[in-house]
Amino acid sequence: MLLREERLHVATDDGAIVAGAGAFEFELTVPGGPMPTAGVTVVGVLPTHRRRGVVRELMSAQLKDAHARGEPIAALWASEGGFYGRFGYGMASVCADIEIPKAHTAFNRAVDWSGTTRLVTADEACELFPQVYERVAPTTPGMISRSPEWWKDRRLADSEWRRAGGGELTFAVLEEAAGPEAYACYRLNFSYADGVPTGTTVVVEAMGATPAATAAVWRYLLDIDWMAKVEAELLPVDHPLHLMLLEQNRMKFRVGDGIWIRPVDVGAALAARAYAGDGDVVLEVSDVFCPWNDGRYGRDGSRTTASPDLRVSVDALGCVYLGGFTFSDLLRAGRVVEVREDAIARADALFRTDRKPWCPEIF
Ligand SMILES: CC(C)(COP(=O)(O)OP(=O)(O)OC[C@H]1O[C@@H](n2cnc3c(N)ncnc32)[C@H](O)[C@@H]1OP(=O)(O)O)[C@@H](O)C(=O)NCCC(=O)NCCS
Repeated sequence: MLLREERLHVATDDGAIVAGAGAFEFELTVPGGPMPTAGVTVVGVLPTHRRRGVVRELMSAQLKDAHARGEPIAALWASEGGFYGRFGYGMASVCADIEIPKAHTAFNRAVDWSGTTRLVTADEACELFPQVYERVAPTTPGMISRSPEWWKDRRLADSEWRRAGGGELTFAVLEEAAGPEAYACYRLNFSYADGVPTGTTVVVEAMGATPAATAAVWRYLLDIDWMAKVEAELLPVDHPLHLMLLEQNRMKFRVGDGIWIRPVDVGAALAARAYAGDGDVVLEVSDVFCPWNDGRYGRDGSRTTASPDLRVSVDALGCVYLGGFTFSDLLRAGRVVEVREDAIARADALFRTDRKPWCPEIF
């Protein structure tokens, strides 16, 4: 069961369910490593019961529950972006869609990889792909842990509605003698006009455990015959394709919203995160929706009575927590108060990450 019954909160009216909010239980990688996370999903209320505070009640119950279970953060993808900030969620990452004409996919240097590539079944993919994913996910902020059931029922599932009229989900693995190094899930959407192929390779997920394997899997996808273009979505903004493609301006790199983070237990979330330097910063955090978080914290998550360096609301802390945005970004948006001079620079030096957060799937 991917979504356990005890992680579903519902509201009823006269015995009938009218609203619900669920939470997957997985680990989401934060700077420093994987962290138990409430993966919020299926939030909704019937149109007959909207705007009466029903989902507010569910959000409150869900966050109290996550807190009691010891989950320092909650994460979600927002379809209604205006809704979640009031509950302490902040958009923590952005991601991008691309659409590259096949004729403009040359790399600026040859791919230095000598393994083999083969097509596999979904069952084989279920065995092989996690061997790559589990080398990437624990060190990539934003990525989530996947159980075998998650792979089978979500990532590798090829239901009709996901196919949306396109080709079947195809699985390719790139291997070296020691085992899988990269994989791709993709669809080939064939079409022709005037006797010329106009189809699209739709990349659902492509992952390499090393830079060479990442280049190799993308070269494979970009070279598939009979396709006029290659599309992919939910890529990290710092995807290596930017620097691998000769004509990066042909990518049509379109940036959109990524995952949102809600510190559920601010002290535990700060304590478990890794920092880039030795300094400290005192954050005064305000949290009207989960008042147990109100207070001042050092970078190690311990409470302090020291005077604050920065004043920040819990949703703004969510924005910078994974390293997707910076305190300087918050300052420019009027979402943090710099109490002590140089505090923004110190906080940015501490929260800095080497790469941008990446969550390759919507949950
Ligand atoms: C969005 C949705 C979950 C809101 O549920 P709801 O029970 O009507 O919300 P509530 O009555 O508890 O409203 C809580 C607050 O959010 C505000 N709000 C409600 N819907 C909103 C929206 N779509 N955008 C921005 N604010 C919204 C309310 O005005 C209220 O504001 P307040 O804090 O100032 O009082 C509901 O409209 C819905 O089910 N929509 C379709 C499914 C959906 O979009 N789910 C979210 C998936 S990520």
